[in-house]
Amino acid sequence: MQRVFSGIQPTGIPHLGNYLGAIRNWATLQADHDCLFCLVDMHSLTMPWSPQTLREQTLGSAACLLAAGIDPTRLYNQSAVSAHARLGWIFNCVSRLGWLNRMTQFKDKAGKNRENHSAGLYVYPNLMAADILAFHATRVPVGDDQLQHLELANDIAQKFNHDMGVEFFPKIEPLVPPAAARVMSLRDGTKKMSKSDPSAQSRIVLTDTADEIAGKIRRAKTDSEPLPSEMAGLAERPEARNLVTIYAAVSERTPADILSEFGGQGFGPFKNALAELLVQKLAPIATETSRLLQDETHLLSVLRTGAERARSVADPIVNEAESLVGFLR
Ligand code: TYM
Repeated sequence: MQRVFSGIQPTGIPHLGNYLGAIRNWATLQADHDCLFCLVDMHSLTMPWSPQTLREQTLGSAACLLAAGIDPTRLYNQSAVSAHARLGWIFNCVSRLGWLNRMTQFKDKAGKNRENHSAGLYVYPNLMAADILAFHATRVPVGDDQLQHLELANDIAQKFNHDMGVEFFPKIEPLVPPAAARVMSLRDGTKKMSKSDPSAQSRIVLTDTADEIAGKIRRAKTDSEPLPSEMAGLAERPEARNLVTIYAAVSERTPADILSEFGGQGFGPFKNALAELLVQKLAPIATETSRLLQDETHLLSVLRTGAERARSVADPIVNEAESLVGFLR
């Protein structure tokens, strides 16, 4: 059975992009893969954070993932499993500065004021490689913004194997969903939907109420043309394309099929139908999340059990990696 690993930063409530790009896929893969899903709280320290908010958001994200159908026995938080940090350090020493300098996500997040960002933000992709390879996972379901990091993880694995003279780490294969691998902001169709966008109107989060979802879709940016009947008509219309993509992904239909239904009409009826569809799919997740959040003790015990299982898989692998590099034990 192939081993699957993936992670999400607990820096806010998971949004529709996280759901369509990753989480929904995770839930499906559980049926026939050996899965581990991780709240990567160590990655959440790479940007400014508040301890209390991190605690709350880690619990909130855990509740949301469980509500979205993630098996409780496969979920844990990264900092509870020391194998991540141990292998992460080794990878800091295997990875090359030249490789990290190419990472577009670092450039996007650091912006112009690079000098003032944490060293953690810079070496983030090394820790991400360790997250996956500490489990010898071979399949990684992600949205397409993570592909460059996964290429780097393969480069690190290959260099480690080459330097140590053994085929120790396997090759990683990304699993990107065919539709909605990059959901865009509802306010700007050229920007990715993101937890860090200052505008809450730019994203639908999994705990939004029916009214919030309907309001955000109603106010979503569009243009003044009717919807086209053919896909080609969406080429220069990023906002329209994004909404059609979301509709198609959520309803599990093709974008062409959606356009054959709504093409030629204005956005009004389309937005009403989209809001209704989203409410129907997301409301049960929101309800279950708030139910789960009432029992913090249970959530903590789920994460503890998940971490125990994760440790039992990763510790022997990382012990061996440490022996290979020459650490005495
Ligand atoms: P994060 O927390 O930014 O996002 C979690 C997952 O959601 C996907 N995603 C999206 N998909 C479609 N459209 C969007 N707008 C969108 N925004 C986010 C991401 O691609 C991701 O799959 N570095 C990772 C977390 C991580 C990780 C790992 C992932 C740490 N270690 C090891 C896989 C394997 C991140 O910041 O994801």
